[in-house]
Amino acid sequence: MDRIYLDHNSTTPLDREVAAAVASCFEQQTLNPASQHWGGREARRWLDNLRVEIGQMLGANIDELSGDRLVFTSGGTESNNLALLGISGETPGQVLVSSIEHPSVIGAAEELQRRGFDVQHIPTSPNGIVDLARLAEMLTDDTKLVSVMMANNETGVIQPIAEIVDLCRSREVPFHTDAIQAVGKLPVSFRELNVDALSFTAHKLHGPRGIGGLLFRDGLQVQPQIHGGFQQEGIRPGTESVPLAVGVHTALKKCVDNLDARRAHLEQLRNQLEQRLLAECSFAEVVGGKAERLPNTANISFRGLNRQAVLMALDMQQVACSTGSACASGSSDPSPVLIAMGLPSEVIEGALRFSVGVENTAAEIEIACGLILQVVHNLRS
Ligand SMILES: Cc1ncc(COP(=O)(O)O)c(C=O)c1O
Repeated sequence: MDRIYLDHNSTTPLDREVAAAVASCFEQQTLNPASQHWGGREARRWLDNLRVEIGQMLGANIDELSGDRLVFTSGGTESNNLALLGISGETPGQVLVSSIEHPSVIGAAEELQRRGFDVQHIPTSPNGIVDLARLAEMLTDDTKLVSVMMANNETGVIQPIAEIVDLCRSREVPFHTDAIQAVGKLPVSFRELNVDALSFTAHKLHGPRGIGGLLFRDGLQVQPQIHGGFQQEGIRPGTESVPLAVGVHTALKKCVDNLDARRAHLEQLRNQLEQRLLAECSFAEVVGGKAERLPNTANISFRGLNRQAVLMALDMQQVACSTGSACASGSSDPSPVLIAMGLPSEVIEGALRFSVGVENTAAEIEIACGLILQVVHNLRS
């Protein structure tokens, strides 16, 4: 039986061209970019160029003397931790995060709370969109940071970033966005978004696992969370990996160059999946279906069923999907995101995430739909 992978929001298969570019860089024996000899200078030049071009592809300007900054990290979790802990600083104040953030933001916010910060969660509507009126009421003169993701990893719902930026600007409060699910699937321009800081990770866009980044505007104070080195202006010390940066660059370039075609393909597959499941299953519904969403994400609840039972039965049929954030999927607890949306417990109990990717085909989706329908009807009877 062929395997069908519908869990791309968890991670994406490494693109073969990206793998080849990374391997070639490793084979060239790139040395430590911080070394003062010829090997270091060569690696530094290569890394500096990659940094500038990655920034450009994300709509930032790293090239200027006092331009935007791009710090490489080990991935999205570290980028979000650096943003929350590093921008909020040491003097406690208020920090606002949306109630549907990824565990890496929620967890960093909990750490801030332990350090004496007043952390508040911005509520969302049942469609999973952040409540702007509530955010406006919650902002105070003491707010140190607001963090709201660009698009949610479980529902795909896209957040009103421009409006949130306006609210934050009017109070001169720094704003960070977790764009980890958006980059590669939607146009993302750091300057056009006018945010202060933005997180991304390579493995969600067919790049290597183990590298991500935090973009932030010049002048924004970001306190290091790792100590003991001068690399990356001391903000994120540690030896930088040129091969992994090559991986980010190659993966991002493929996404940006083919964005429209990729989006259309993903949307077509996602719609095919949703339409067939809804047409042939009377107890299925799309979570967040009325909101603007990522092109690849379908969160479908099968009312009356247990999501874990559906997931396991589908796994036996070689169909991979998920019941929530991969960082929480070891547990069978109901999704905090869907709870925060205020959905009925029956909907939360039966909700699964199907996230399609560029290498999926219409034929695969047809087969997957047949297997999903078989499983849910069997479990229901
Ligand atoms: C929205 C969001 N933020 C952060 C992360 C964490 O990224 P990483 O797996 O690179 O640590 C993820 C990964 O699932 C995510 O979906």
